[in-house]
Amino acid sequence: MIDSFYRNIDYLRISITDRCNLRCLYCMPAEGVVRMTHTEILRYEEIAAIVRAAADVGISKIRLTGGEPLVRPGVADLVSMLKAVDGITDISMTTNAILLEESAARLADSGLDRVNISLDSLDVEKFRTITRAGDIEKVFSGIEEAEASGLGPVKINTVVIRGFNDDEIIDLADWAFSNSLHLRFIEFMPVNDSSFPFIEKHISSDEIRNLLFQYYPELESCSIIGGGPAISWRRKLDTGSVGVIEAVSHSFCEHCNRIRLTADGMLKPCLFSNDEINLLPALRDDVVINYDELFKKIEETIRCKPASHVDFKRVNSDSRCMNEIGG
Ligand code: GTP
Ligand code: 5AD
Ligand code: SF4
Repeated sequence: MIDSFYRNIDYLRISITDRCNLRCLYCMPAEGVVRMTHTEILRYEEIAAIVRAAADVGISKIRLTGGEPLVRPGVADLVSMLKAVDGITDISMTTNAILLEESAARLADSGLDRVNISLDSLDVEKFRTITRAGDIEKVFSGIEEAEASGLGPVKINTVVIRGFNDDEIIDLADWAFSNSLHLRFIEFMPVNDSSFPFIEKHISSDEIRNLLFQYYPELESCSIIGGGPAISWRRKLDTGSVGVIEAVSHSFCEHCNRIRLTADGMLKPCLFSNDEINLLPALRDDVVINYDELFKKIEETIRCKPASHVDFKRVNSDSRCMNEIGG
């Protein structure tokens, strides 16, 4: 395994599409973004080849993201292909769950281990407002089906936005405790121009943590299976938990264990850097895929991971939108 500033890089997040069936206010403009074309997007065989090479470099955990991964046809087939790769021990997905009810059982059969689900409000109208389109009932039935299909522990991602859902923090925590869910309050991250106005509505993890401990003084630390940066707490008798992802106010770069693959074949060493390593020459320049070259480029990506990211309170106008990076 190659390390980066003494960090073991064993987690690859793969954005399999930039498309999404929602238009969250902080993520995409209402009209959507210029979409990648079908030829630009990696084929599943190409993704599987990258994962084979990545496993040789030391990657064992894969997370499928988007856009919304479930809008891409045949995702379960991709899961089966990745499950068959030696060295891959954990395959998960981050989804908005709109299409999860109908696909959860098939995904579980194909080898998906678990899902993380984005949900910023429990209120029907507020959910519709933040997603510009979403039907919250579909998310609730997706969560139920994920649990029933064994895609747990099911984690919920809630981006906290001042004046929008900060009044729901305790309701969301209660909901997580009573439904055995693992809910993480995520600090809003300014990624590029379209998300930047929301920085004024940023709430720090300390504020969220104080509120949680004020209501539930009995909270104790716990760890939930996974490779991400969340800090979690539970109450003694509950199976659910609450947590924070302090993406802005505290740096967790020194524990960073991941690299990212975009749907058009670029490896990103860091979420907040514009650096990208192009894998397409290793995949498409010759008639056969060049594994040695893929291996080298993945190693190079890990080697050029920065020790920490730059000040992201600064606008990064050139950055890809979150729907192209997958969070
Ligand atoms: P597990 O712990 O394995 O369940 O996954 P995860 O929490 O890494 O994945 P998920 O896709 O649910 O990510 C939750 C939130 O953490 C998202 O808002 C991500 O954007 C954020 N996140 C994930 N990785 C990083 C990272 O490297 N840096 C920062 N700043 N945020 C990250
Ligand atoms: N800041 C924090 N989290 C974000 N997500 C999308 N955009 C942002 C942002 N600007 C979250 C989504 C999803 C995960 C992949 O990233 O809500 O749960
Ligand atoms: Fe889609 Fe996720 Fe972006 Fe919302 S945050 S528009 S669900 S990609």
